[in-house]
Amino acid sequence: MTLRTLIEALGFAVRPYPLPARLRGTAYALVPTEHRTPRLEPSGAAIPLLALTASQEPQAALRLLAARAAQLRLGDPEFGIGAAVTREVAVREALRDALERRTPPTVARRLTAWSDTVRSPLHPAWDVQLDCHLYGDDGSAPWVGAVLRRDDREIRAFGCGTTVRGALGRALDEVLTLAAEDRWSAPDKDPEFVGEVVGVPEGEWVEPVGAELRTVHDGPGGTVVQCRLPGIAPRPEPAGRLAPVDLSLAGDPELTRISRTFHENSKIRAAFRTLPPVDVDRLAPDTRRELARPYRDYGRTRTEQPWPVQGARPLLPLDTALRRRRSAAPMSRRPLQLADMARVLELSVGITGTARTPDGVELPLRATPSAGGLCSYDLFVLARHVEGLTPGVHYVHPGRRVLQLVADDCPFEDVAAHTGYAGRVGEAAAVVVFVAAFRRGRWKYGERGYRMALIECGHVAQSVVTAAAALGLVAHPLAGFVDDYFDRLVGVNGTDDAVVHLTLLGEAQA
Ligand SMILES: Cc1cc2nc3c(=O)[nH]c(=O)nc-3n(C[C@H](O)[C@H](O)[C@H](O)COP(=O)(O)O)c2cc1C
Repeated sequence: MTLRTLIEALGFAVRPYPLPARLRGTAYALVPTEHRTPRLEPSGAAIPLLALTASQEPQAALRLLAARAAQLRLGDPEFGIGAAVTREVAVREALRDALERRTPPTVARRLTAWSDTVRSPLHPAWDVQLDCHLYGDDGSAPWVGAVLRRDDREIRAFGCGTTVRGALGRALDEVLTLAAEDRWSAPDKDPEFVGEVVGVPEGEWVEPVGAELRTVHDGPGGTVVQCRLPGIAPRPEPAGRLAPVDLSLAGDPELTRISRTFHENSKIRAAFRTLPPVDVDRLAPDTRRELARPYRDYGRTRTEQPWPVQGARPLLPLDTALRRRRSAAPMSRRPLQLADMARVLELSVGITGTARTPDGVELPLRATPSAGGLCSYDLFVLARHVEGLTPGVHYVHPGRRVLQLVADDCPFEDVAAHTGYAGRVGEAAAVVVFVAAFRRGRWKYGERGYRMALIECGHVAQSVVTAAAALGLVAHPLAGFVDDYFDRLVGVNGTDDAVVHLTLLGEAQA
């Protein structure tokens, strides 16, 4: 990354700046060198934000940042400035920067169909409007104005270039930068429109008369060129801005690109790309019957044990249970009683009612809420010391109220070793394994179904914890485990169904 070297040679450092996923591009922040390394800032001191630039093209964002670094280092605000790896590009950038500092014309033509040649920097499902205008028609360098509108706020940006395409790219980069900083403002007056341009016209390189160029840095990382043009306004000094606090926490946004994009893609929006409406009443009876069976079934297992509904100890009042609950409370080595374990299952995944469809299909409803009643989760119990229950892996079948023995070779030491907490797992009498059944909600919720399944597992896990606390048991949630191992252990493929959470259960120490 030679442009980074150039920025460092100028005495500054670059930090990636996380953009919301609705903005498609890369942003960089210019920071003092002592803030070069992304790390947690233990002092809580804010990081000075010397400049911020964004573009759909990472190198372009870095070039703009290098120019801002050079400007800060050299002063001379009355010059246009360009920084690049090669002198040729630096000259073009300096020229463009100088052109951009002149007063823009006030008469514009609407630029339509621009997105056929230049990609929009905005996620297509974002509820905003982006309009572009082409200014000036007198053979001088073209200007493009871009306006991003959302409700009654807007972002306006100008770009100037030696071609319309270049000017458009600059205007969109500037929109991206301002949007990255959330710099929305009240609507401004529109320019005077004198027509429409369909598509982006091919442009010629326009060499402005009277441009005076000088190379001010030619060393590590690249070249910096200044350009003086008659009639340019000085660039205002940047105000002393501070980076948002989370810049000190954020790592490289590239590393979390998929989850950020996923979240964006799974949003419900007011405009379009929302979820298709599903009228459950109009589903075919067979489909409805299928929905009424949100279970796995290990009917051919050797051993099936009913959940005893009698014999559990009395429940503490909710208030007492929740106040006493502590994940890391010491566990005793005494075995759990099957009746207590059954009570926990009853109060979390037990069927507590039914919904009836018009054609008489009964949809089971459970103690814990579930998105659309689809129950996008399954529970397994790894029993180690549960009095009355065969040690091994059991599937919890809420429909039939049984525990189905899936495997009796559950090596508990091995299980413990595949978590980050072998010692603690070694104290537990049983482990509840939460499987997100993503496929159960996908047909209805699409990408959002993934969120639903995780949220549901969280709901059920909380019910397990609350019920266990009400019985005076210790329940310790655990998300630190080796995914592939647990997926294999309970027999799910890890993609359509996957283990997402564990809860250790044990008797409390007296
Ligand atoms: C989603 C989730 C994941 C957790 N994962 C772990 C874990 O991997 N290891 C662990 O020791 N505790 C884990 N915990 C327990 C928390 O550390 C614990 O809830 C927290 O320290 C607060 O303590 P409390 O539950 O006693 O109030 C997890 C809790 C939740 C809700």
